[in-house]
Amino acid sequence: MKKQILLTMCLSVATMLSTTAQTLKLKEARFHKGDNMEWKNSSFDDSGWQSMSILKPWNEQGTQNPNNYAWYRIRFTMPQSMLDDSDVKETVLFNMGKIDDADETYLNGVLIGKTGQTPADKGGYSSAWESVRTYSVSAKNKAIKWDGENVLAVRVYNGNDPGGMFGSGVSISVPNRIDGMKTVFAQKSLGDNPVCTATLKNTNRSTAKIILDIDVTDTENGESLQHINKKLSVKGNGTKSFDLAYSKGKCVQIKVTCTDAVTGKKNVTTYIPKYILTPAAPATPRYNGPLVYGVRPGSPVIFRIPMSGERPMKFSVTHLPEGLTLDAANGVISGSIKDRGDYEMTIIGENAKGKTEQKFTIKVGDKIALTPPMGWNSWNCWGLSVSQEKVMSSARALIEKGLADYGYSYINVDDAWEAPERNADGTIAVNDKFPDMKGLGDWLHSNGLKFGIYSSPGDRTCGNYLGSLGHEEQDAKTYNSWGVDYLKYDWCGYSREFEKSSDRSVAAYVRPYLHMQKYLREQPRDIFYSLCQYGMADVWKWGHAVDANSWRTTGDITDTWESLYDIGFVRQAELYPYAEPGCWNDPDMLIVGMVGWSANLRETRLTTEEQYSHISLWSLLASNMLIGCDISRIDDFTFGLLCNNEVNAVNQDILGRQAKREIVDGDIQIWKRPLADGSYAVGIFNVGSENATVDFASYFDKLGISRLSYARDLWRQKDISTTDTRYFIPTHGVKFIKIRY
Ligand code: GAL
Repeated sequence: MKKQILLTMCLSVATMLSTTAQTLKLKEARFHKGDNMEWKNSSFDDSGWQSMSILKPWNEQGTQNPNNYAWYRIRFTMPQSMLDDSDVKETVLFNMGKIDDADETYLNGVLIGKTGQTPADKGGYSSAWESVRTYSVSAKNKAIKWDGENVLAVRVYNGNDPGGMFGSGVSISVPNRIDGMKTVFAQKSLGDNPVCTATLKNTNRSTAKIILDIDVTDTENGESLQHINKKLSVKGNGTKSFDLAYSKGKCVQIKVTCTDAVTGKKNVTTYIPKYILTPAAPATPRYNGPLVYGVRPGSPVIFRIPMSGERPMKFSVTHLPEGLTLDAANGVISGSIKDRGDYEMTIIGENAKGKTEQKFTIKVGDKIALTPPMGWNSWNCWGLSVSQEKVMSSARALIEKGLADYGYSYINVDDAWEAPERNADGTIAVNDKFPDMKGLGDWLHSNGLKFGIYSSPGDRTCGNYLGSLGHEEQDAKTYNSWGVDYLKYDWCGYSREFEKSSDRSVAAYVRPYLHMQKYLREQPRDIFYSLCQYGMADVWKWGHAVDANSWRTTGDITDTWESLYDIGFVRQAELYPYAEPGCWNDPDMLIVGMVGWSANLRETRLTTEEQYSHISLWSLLASNMLIGCDISRIDDFTFGLLCNNEVNAVNQDILGRQAKREIVDGDIQIWKRPLADGSYAVGIFNVGSENATVDFASYFDKLGISRLSYARDLWRQKDISTTDTRYFIPTHGVKFIKIRY
């Protein structure tokens, strides 16, 4: 079928440079493990060192070097012509690509940049493997030898393998003045009158005279909403800011063009600011949760009724099974049911504005997690700096800010809660940051939330904390005594144990997980079993057999489009046959909101569109929906992303089928998920770097659709035309719809 993509308007989110500064690209280095500060000097003789590509980590080149230092030395000539060609001749930029984990970079013996921290640094080791390093050096710096030989010496410290220099290699350039003009965007306000600020930053040392053009355009129809054209000067290292207003819920594109008034050279940056699509919840009661709840006979039921609407709200339940009680004020159902069976009931919510009723079934049997788990995990925000206090602050915010009213219920503590040593009797101990695990569990349960924890089948976790090896039974019992409802069991340190044997059969991968499963099942409570071994040995084919409830399918996600694209769009495409109620593919935790994997949080680096795509895809994939940000600092945009009841209903659909990628047509991908009511959820994604208009109908033949009888925009929660199926989809964006045909 003919491709129906119309490329629209402007370029992309990336900055487009129209200048022609020369770039020197370096791909090879000399390499040596170990650490010696003499190796930074240009006079050092490295001729005996091995050669190493800097495009891929050292592991992919036959070298292992966990928890250690290594050095790269790169020799190159810096042509004087690079300097002569620049119209400003101020700085030399060294773009170092990516370095796993921390680096110090020297040019001819002089330190020019450092990212991350080595164990010798104050504050200790801190990984920065995903950072792209650009180090800037004055063109007048005596360390540079123009037309002569230079040595870049890079001291790398690596935590867990893989490690080393990788990515795009090293690029060196002497920029023109216009290249030093950067435009950055920030969301000044959201809500009813959203405003985005565009800030021009002159990173040159001297003043730039520029002609500025700012265009704000409605992406749906190309209409110009605002145009600014002015001449201005921006002082060296100075900034100028412009506030740009737009309408609520509108997808607008901002294009900033800077033209150097002297040379006429330009750069263009485009951006789509945040816009909230999710309509505000009504004041009347509305049920936003799953329609079923699975529990084993006699295990505790902990269910907080997910209902939005004005408080106070009065909850009641008809036909509440024997053994369960309801707290009518906070809507928490608790207790246990002895006998197997399907227990149907009606949940009723009533407030000053109205009343709602919802049919709901508790299924008492062998299966739990009949819909994917929704909740929060500490890793993507706090990393190893997590503490009980931080966990509590997100748990409280989950309730106070209303996320619990949308079904988010698990509060999962990831790595770094464990003490350096076990207790004398071998039981696991907590570190100072977690004064009272049982208290934490009790508090969560009394609020209808569930408690998750993390460990490893190895002697050590990924963060080098204590693992469960040899103490599985004791640990399972301890978890039970704390009221743990979810265990993330992370392979990591088990690789040392694994390497002791040459057995690489599937059974060898299954063994540690089966072992712990036995003890978890012996506990008198249901513990969601989350396997984390990055997809090894096709875990999706045997995760069911070890009674796992979900299994990570890939390595760790991070908040970049590259990572989201690879994990979400590439690596899940063939996994749809393996998901079913009780057993879910887990493409890792959510990367929206304030994240950071450390004590220092920052806003996710995903663009607005990428975030809509992320949540849409995770809903289609029936993925675990574990929020990875600091909930106490959540903004209205992120709340809208996480708390759209119609989008979440796709994730929580009780048929439990994962979406299949039906169409890949260049940059357009269509993923389709059958739903329990006979309709389908469909995500039409634009994974390319240009905006597109897609005619959905042009794919009907391939999708087996003759004509639509119903279509609804899930983010906007509006029925849409069944005949006009042309959708504008910005770069990395999505049209997420529900259809019948
Ligand atoms: C990784 C795991 C992450 C996080 C981390 C903790 O192996 O994939 O999600 O749990 O360990 O150290």
